[in-house]
Amino acid sequence: MTTNPELSALFPLANSIPADARVTPLHQRETLVSGEMRRYEGDSKTVLSAVHFRQADGSLSPVELGSYPLGGTQEARDALDAAVSAYDSGRGRWPTMTVAGRIACVEHFARLMVERRDEVIRLIMWEIGKTKSDAQKEFDRTVQYIAATVDALKELDNGSSRFQVVDGTIAQIRRAPLGVVLCMGPYNYPLNETFTTLIPALIMGNTVVLKPPKFGALLFYPLLFAFQKAFPPGVINTVYGRGEQVVPYLMGSGDINVLALIGSSRVADTLKKAHPKSNRLRAVLGLDAKNPAIVLPDANLDVTVRECVAGALSFNGQRCTALKIIFVHRSIADTFVARLSKAVNSLRCGMPWESGVQVTPLPDQQKPAYLGECVSEAVRLGACVVNDGGGDSAATMFRPAVVFPVDERMRLYHEEQFGPVVPVVPFDDVREPLEYVIRSPYGQQVSLFGNDAQQIGTLTDQLVNQVCRVNLNCQCQRGPDVFPFAGRKDSAEGTLSVSDALRAFSIRSMVASKHSADDKALLNAIVDGRRSNFVSTGFLL
Ligand code: G3H
Repeated sequence: MTTNPELSALFPLANSIPADARVTPLHQRETLVSGEMRRYEGDSKTVLSAVHFRQADGSLSPVELGSYPLGGTQEARDALDAAVSAYDSGRGRWPTMTVAGRIACVEHFARLMVERRDEVIRLIMWEIGKTKSDAQKEFDRTVQYIAATVDALKELDNGSSRFQVVDGTIAQIRRAPLGVVLCMGPYNYPLNETFTTLIPALIMGNTVVLKPPKFGALLFYPLLFAFQKAFPPGVINTVYGRGEQVVPYLMGSGDINVLALIGSSRVADTLKKAHPKSNRLRAVLGLDAKNPAIVLPDANLDVTVRECVAGALSFNGQRCTALKIIFVHRSIADTFVARLSKAVNSLRCGMPWESGVQVTPLPDQQKPAYLGECVSEAVRLGACVVNDGGGDSAATMFRPAVVFPVDERMRLYHEEQFGPVVPVVPFDDVREPLEYVIRSPYGQQVSLFGNDAQQIGTLTDQLVNQVCRVNLNCQCQRGPDVFPFAGRKDSAEGTLSVSDALRAFSIRSMVASKHSADDKALLNAIVDGRRSNFVSTGFLL
């Protein structure tokens, strides 16, 4: 691939980073296991930034941000043992603690986390190239998610703080933890999406082994101290190492009760099969997606173009919910494509800390080459790159490419590009995009653009049975976080939202007795004497 000089010039010289964006190299040598920051003297993994430095001769070289421990199966075993022992078959301090006690620990953690906000945001920018404002949003959204989780748990628990009498049986039904959770988030939302499984898993009384993502691992380091202070030993433990080695090892141990993974369906498939007791394993998965936009002839093009640009190219298209293919009715295709490319031309490329920047370097150093191949193949098969300089690249910077007309012979039609390429497919009959959705291996969301109530209504009725969210005249997205986030086929397993996640990481368990005088007296004695954390009618305010 040839390096584009204009894009190359966007990378900074080492001495030109503004003070409020600088990071000092971080060579992490400890991992959190059993409440201790355990030193590891073995191999380490060098962390390269999405950002490159421009040298005096104009060449580009990746910035080394630091390193983290590259533990092996022994270190993974130690972390797992710590989680197993803290759970202690459900008898540990954490799984038997009052809900109020667990909430207090999580709130303590959130306060400590906020103290590290600046460090974490800088690391998000440098490790994965997210713009400063998006990195700030990711951090703040995560803190809000924690607060919302606490509120949702209070509501859930208060609803369970009573006895029910049915057919002569007295029962109290509550949600109980599942055991040890292996928690792995993705590199595009390394903090937020990891925490949308980690926090509910913890607050429901499970113990956790956390493996940070392949890009965005160092940003967890400042938070390890907060975990250490806020939670009892062994409740949260970390594993750093070669994922392909340590993760199958953890799953193969049979000691993991829940696999919480936001990643690829291929990895999820392999990991589930590695567990020796499949019926003991619960999986909470957020996986692949190739969400289409379907633009109907009467769509409002101002709205459609704005939403398609945001949907396809926010964070350089690296969102699981991104619009990854756009179907447009042939009667408006030329106008739409011209307006879309104009809007894409106006996106500003630059470094994450520069204000107003929308396109930034990609964390995966191999990604520009892959995207370049997909675009070249489409061009070879008759498509064009419509916008100015689309597909140009320099190191990790890739100028977004609007590719039109795309068809089923091209990789861009089928593959989840997860990057700044926008394939546009013309259609004559709306059954064509509908067939695409039906045949797709994925089933997360769809965006429909149009204004004919009858047509939108009919399409919606069909699409809700193919995906889990139909967005009308707006881009696909996960939020607001109180809404269910789910997917069909290879896109997800289970549903995440603030309240659904609490259910995903717990199971209903109950205590029951006959409605007899003796048993009523016994239950009253337990409640009045506060002899149980489960059998209780306390109300959380
Ligand atoms: O990568 C997938 C994220 O959950 C997307 O979240 O739609 O709010 O950007 P978002």
